[in-house]
Amino acid sequence: MKTILVTGGAGFIGSNFIRYVFGKGGFRGRVVNLDKLTYAGNLENLADIERKYKGRYTFVKGDICDFKLLNGIFKKYKPEAVAHFAAESHVDRSIFGPKDFVETNIQGTFALLETARNFWQNSSIPDSRFPTSFRFHHVSTDEVYGSLGKTGKFKETTPYDPRSPYSASKASSDHLVRAYHHTYGLPVTISNCSNNYGPYHFPEKLVPLAILNALEGKPLPVYGDGLQVRDWLYVEDHCAAIWEIINKGRAGETYNVGGNCEMKNIDVVKGICSALERAVPARHNKALNGKNYADLITYVKDRAGHDRRYAIDFSKIKKELGWQPAVRFAGGLAKTVDWYLANPGWVKNVKTGAYRKWISRNYGK
Ligand code: NAD
Ligand code: DAU
Repeated sequence: MKTILVTGGAGFIGSNFIRYVFGKGGFRGRVVNLDKLTYAGNLENLADIERKYKGRYTFVKGDICDFKLLNGIFKKYKPEAVAHFAAESHVDRSIFGPKDFVETNIQGTFALLETARNFWQNSSIPDSRFPTSFRFHHVSTDEVYGSLGKTGKFKETTPYDPRSPYSASKASSDHLVRAYHHTYGLPVTISNCSNNYGPYHFPEKLVPLAILNALEGKPLPVYGDGLQVRDWLYVEDHCAAIWEIINKGRAGETYNVGGNCEMKNIDVVKGICSALERAVPARHNKALNGKNYADLITYVKDRAGHDRRYAIDFSKIKKELGWQPAVRFAGGLAKTVDWYLANPGWVKNVKTGAYRKWISRNYGK
């Protein structure tokens, strides 16, 4: 049975990825999910997976900075592939407290690379060369490229220019991953992706925050003038891209992944208001007290060092691997709104912090 080690699988994209791999990805092997369960890790994201794929899904609670733990995991499970999602992921948090970002994103990636290299070099291949099928896939961000002017898109060859502690820590980890390929030959791939949205998104990020605040009649905070542009991608499309890269991508290569969906933040928030109006008309929502959803939009102080525009040129992955986004923004947003409405238990547990108790109840941790 083939084994994939997923780091950060209890987070937003990691949990969607595990669901994708077992489902549409058609994977028949085992997934080992290593996650520290920070505030962003929520095992409730995977409750259905745990039930459905008993024996093929294993959760290990732990820190990617822990060499001893990592060695034990590689020895025990002998993964053929690593899908590395674990990270501190929120830009605002990196501005107020960069330490965890440096530790997890840089030192943690280093620990994982070093352990993977030892495992690969000492694997049972007679001439001690790595099995060609081994893959270390590093999940990264378009933010490493910095900010764009009015025109142009990020290509894989765009020089790095990270501008927040988050993006600087991700850029640093990308460089380490490439260095392990160049120096040791470790068969790595990297994806640099734009903004994701979809189910299981933690409500500190713009899309879920706006959906949940709007439903409760709370302000929808828009930073600065709201004219910053992001390129939005439905999370399942991102998972499909990563799965293609792990299976068919060329070792040592970087692939940009994006949604072909540049939107100003204010238009994203207005889009959320429209999607909500269709699902739960404001006149039926008592929390709104007669207001419309859009009346809740509130301009607030801008994020420090806020990047103005991101846009992704994904022609390389399209040409080489045949991947392109399948979900359009309006449809993806409607599905996302429906998911939050259909999962009030998940929402309540996240909003009240009870998901931490859910984890201790079910895992004794
Ligand atoms: P998330 O914050 O939702 O999840 C991160 C997960 O990593 C959590 O489960 C957390 O418990 C775990 N984790 C954190 N520190 C850890 C550590 N030291 N050891 C083990 N586990 C740890 O993040 P996300 O939005 O799912 O992002 C996943 C990855 O994708 C990140 O590497 C991020 O940089 C990248 N990315 C995210 C986006 C996006 O729009 N969210 C876009 C492009 C790239
Ligand atoms: O571009 C990829 C990145 O997208 C990932 O690498 C990050 O992990 C992920 O968090 C995301 O970063 P952003 O900073 O772009 O996401 P966020 O949802 O925090 O913000 C999206 C945009 O909306 C950004 O321009 C800031 C703005 N914003 C955000 C929040 C939380 C608001 O205007 N109001 C808000 O309340």
